[in-house]
Amino acid sequence: MLDSGILAQGPRVKAFEEGFAEMCGVPHAIATSSGTTALHTALLAHSIGPGDEVITSPFTFIASANSVLFTGARPVFVDIDPITFNLDPRLIEAAITPRTKAILPVHLYGLSCDMDSIMSIAKEHSLVVIEDACQSHGAIYKGHRVGSFGTGTFSLYPTKNMTSGEGGMITTNDPVIAEKCRVIRQHGMRRRYYHDELGFNFRMTDLHAAVGLAQLHKLERFNQIRRANAIYLSTHLEGVITPRVPQGCEHVFHQYTVRVQGGRRDLLRTYLQEHEIGSEVYYPVPVHQQIYYKGVLGYTDSLPVAEQAAAEVLSLPVHSGLSQADLESIVATVNEFNKI
Ligand SMILES: Cc1ncc(COP(=O)(O)O)c(C=O)c1O
Repeated sequence: MLDSGILAQGPRVKAFEEGFAEMCGVPHAIATSSGTTALHTALLAHSIGPGDEVITSPFTFIASANSVLFTGARPVFVDIDPITFNLDPRLIEAAITPRTKAILPVHLYGLSCDMDSIMSIAKEHSLVVIEDACQSHGAIYKGHRVGSFGTGTFSLYPTKNMTSGEGGMITTNDPVIAEKCRVIRQHGMRRRYYHDELGFNFRMTDLHAAVGLAQLHKLERFNQIRRANAIYLSTHLEGVITPRVPQGCEHVFHQYTVRVQGGRRDLLRTYLQEHEIGSEVYYPVPVHQQIYYKGVLGYTDSLPVAEQAAAEVLSLPVHSGLSQADLESIVATVNEFNKI
């Protein structure tokens, strides 16, 4: 690639886009510079802007909601399901107003949202669906990959199930949306140096695409190992609530997240740290309670399920580099803690 002299948005980006589209089962994929810019571009391609509302999850990485703010629209938070940690479709309709333009479900931790319910609400109210699949490469809902229901957005950041170093991807069945995304990604330019609309430099380089292509070929294997690790953990862990996978879903376990009840989550985290086992809290503060949202934007929502999840979740190692000894040590340490 370096010898070819074509470094930015060249043939490897195109090949990566084609491979990614095939993986998702859609005709179009558009590579971007990050998951955040993929979300931003997808929202703009659906003409979402000032005065619009976008329904999304409060229990996610900040970029899901911030990308809505970038367009001038307002994120409206709907509480999550306590079992899946994903947007609770039973609560969506009550949040719809005449300003609502889109639903932005987040497939958190590698598990698809309840897409039948979300797509049927969207259809009934003529809303756009933009899937934040930044944590769910390859995840399946009833036989279909995430990112193939609405307009899909993915992150290729190094911690994800596959990476390109930094990068993002948009997936769509709609050729018009695909074309709009391509134009927004490249300074609103359809013809070289003719700018019909406002766009950005959200391009991916061929360097990143070369890494992404190599990773794409390994995704299924990575995901299978993650699933096997998750099954081992769920079979052997005691005293914590392990993830439950709804029927029809294939989880790809970007995170293996347990609930620790009784106010002991942070104690377990410290105990694991003392035994040199990494763990992380995704996410300690729901978006509506972040200082920028609460203090600056004035959000006053009460979303008890998300707030309780933020106090109880703990993600344990599940990545494809774990050995059997690592898995046994994680299980032994968590189970030991529960006897203290
Ligand atoms: C749910 C979610 N949305 C959006 C993003 C943003 O992706 P990126 O970090 O590639 O901009 C991430 C990644 O961290 C994420 O986990």
